[in-house]
Amino acid sequence: MILVTGGAGFIGANFVLDWLAQSDEAVVNLDKLTYAGNLETLASLNGDARHHFVRGDIGDRALVGQLLAQHQPRAVINFAAESHVDRSIHGPGEFIQTNVVGTFNLLEAVRGYWNTLPDDRKAAFRFLHVSTDEVYGTLAPDAPPFTETHPYEPNSPYSASKAASDHLVRAWHHTYGLPVLTTNCSNNYGPYHFPEKLIPLVILNALAGKPLPVYGDGQQVRDWLFVRDHCSAIRRVLEAGRLGETYNVGGWNEKANLDVVQTICTLLDELQPRADGKGYAEQITFVADRPGHDRRYAIDARKLEKELGWKPAETFETGIRKTVQWYLAHPAWVNNVTSGAYRDWVQQQYGA
Ligand code: NAD
Ligand code: DAU
Repeated sequence: MILVTGGAGFIGANFVLDWLAQSDEAVVNLDKLTYAGNLETLASLNGDARHHFVRGDIGDRALVGQLLAQHQPRAVINFAAESHVDRSIHGPGEFIQTNVVGTFNLLEAVRGYWNTLPDDRKAAFRFLHVSTDEVYGTLAPDAPPFTETHPYEPNSPYSASKAASDHLVRAWHHTYGLPVLTTNCSNNYGPYHFPEKLIPLVILNALAGKPLPVYGDGQQVRDWLFVRDHCSAIRRVLEAGRLGETYNVGGWNEKANLDVVQTICTLLDELQPRADGKGYAEQITFVADRPGHDRRYAIDARKLEKELGWKPAETFETGIRKTVQWYLAHPAWVNNVTSGAYRDWVQQQYGA
């Protein structure tokens, strides 16, 4: 049994689906179902006894403690977070609450549980914290990619809150001996990505005939990784990572934002051409830049590759094609997300 937090979000849900496709080890999935949590993504697990969903907050120490005592997991994998940089600029409070205070309360609940375990299970237990490359700050165009020893220099309220959570996890290992692992991953993309983030936003806006908003000059660089490759990296680190270590996860796929948007337009021109015969790139619109916008992220993933033998399965070219095809093939999921129907369902089901 493992306990996953944030397992109704983009990466957490992909992780749960991948995990149960490869293993019969059950998953307790604790998720608050914020605007970013979507049970539609997990619909294929309805009635599957290996998946136990609980709506709740990682900051609710009593609830987490009760779940741990009841299910006795051998590992906790923490995906739960506020994750969108633009939202953190408009309203940082929730980011501090969940990413910092929430992680603190989760660590305390886990520490309490871990202390009750017999020695063999105590030694085998793992707390894996899923973090981001954004904690390292921004890179100059010619600087080498981030290694695990790069200083923490977060620039947005989001990345500062994630950096704080990473430090808490580190401290709980050094001070209390909690067996922790941390992964710092680059930008993910793939199925079930909420359309507030660049790639799904561009795909769906293009199909809806809306502008494709590119911030500033569009020359900011991100290092893209297909979400299932992130999931395989987490599984590998959970299996064989050295305690207290951090592992960078990335696919060596640096791209400027404008190139990403143009690639999506070209794929859509091929797979679902516009009715008027024009290219989707006509919809590209340059808009005001994000305040404090980090210019470049790039991940050096050699530690994970060399130490644990992990390799991504997808290149950006194969992954982005699969992603565009997935959005074209799943209009029901897309419609529910864009219409807010899944939020209505949560309201109806949970009354809040
Ligand atoms: P997401 O926003 O899609 O999902 C977050 C999930 O956490 C949602 O289901 C939400 O309901 C849940 N959640 C939020 N607050 C909660 C709380 N207090 N208690 C319980 N559940 C709560 O995010 P994502 O893109 O899937 O990211 C998952 C994790 O991976 C985050 O920690 C993020 O920082 C990290 N990360 C993301 C990326 C990326 O490119 N998306 C890259 C590297 C690391
Ligand atoms: O690097 C990992 C991080 O990647 C994760 O930790 C975050 O949770 C995740 O949201 C992501 O952060 P970014 O800010 O890089 O992702 P986003 O999709 O919001 O933006 C990608 C780039 O595209 C960024 O440079 C901003 C730009 N952008 C974004 C949007 C939404 C645009 O130009 N236009 C847009 O409309």
